[in-house]
Amino acid sequence: MDMKNELEKYITSHIDNESEVLRELNRYTNINILRPRMLSGHIQGQILKMFCRMIDPVNILEIGTFTGYSAISMAEGLSDPDAHIDTIEVNDELKPVIEKFISKAGFQNKITLHIGNALSIIPNLNKEFELVFIDADKRQYPEYYRAVFPMVRKGGYILADNIFWNGKVIEPVDENDEYTKGILEFNRIVKEDDRVEKVILPFRDGLFLIRKK
Ligand SMILES: C[S@@+](CC[C@H](N)C(=O)[O-])C[C@H]1O[C@@H](n2cnc3c(N)ncnc32)[C@H](O)[C@@H]1O
Repeated sequence: MDMKNELEKYITSHIDNESEVLRELNRYTNINILRPRMLSGHIQGQILKMFCRMIDPVNILEIGTFTGYSAISMAEGLSDPDAHIDTIEVNDELKPVIEKFISKAGFQNKITLHIGNALSIIPNLNKEFELVFIDADKRQYPEYYRAVFPMVRKGGYILADNIFWNGKVIEPVDENDEYTKGILEFNRIVKEDDRVEKVILPFRDGLFLIRKK
């Protein structure tokens, strides 16, 4: 028996269903978009939604939109009527898909999509965030962290996805593997940063939960 698969089925059958629009986006992405595995998916989407319920943030920043699954999941968990998500995606080919599904979800006023490199866009956002979700280029995780840190409110959270990088963080590192090196460097920086409290959620590919003191 494939324990991991069976447990995943068990989990998905005991948590809230995906909304209709998220289910459709999940299916659409898997059929039409390259590298669909990048999408958060049912379980992680519901985790992000629950974090939004718990933190009750007003301003959220997402780095790495892909087709919009995590942004829409988080938007579904927002309670404050003024709550807003800025999400950044470098691949302009994804823009029509993201916009279509944000509209379908009815979140065109809640989610602002920025197309471009996060490192160029972040300094111009001029906002303070209660929640930042880092999920873009693994090589740039340390730079995203440094760029967003001053913009995170005290008591605010940074969540970073894929911090196990498929288990590569505990294997010998290939000299040319800039992705694993980026994640390792990020994990080290967070560990050594005494301005934050941190814990790792060992779910899926590892989610770092970081709280600015
Ligand atoms: C893992 S996917 C994001 C998945 C999405 N958050 C979700 O949960 O469905 C990473 C995305 O980050 C984008 N990306 C990579 N480098 C970026 C950068 N420098 N600025 C903005 N987006 C970037 C990629 O094009 C890709 O769509």
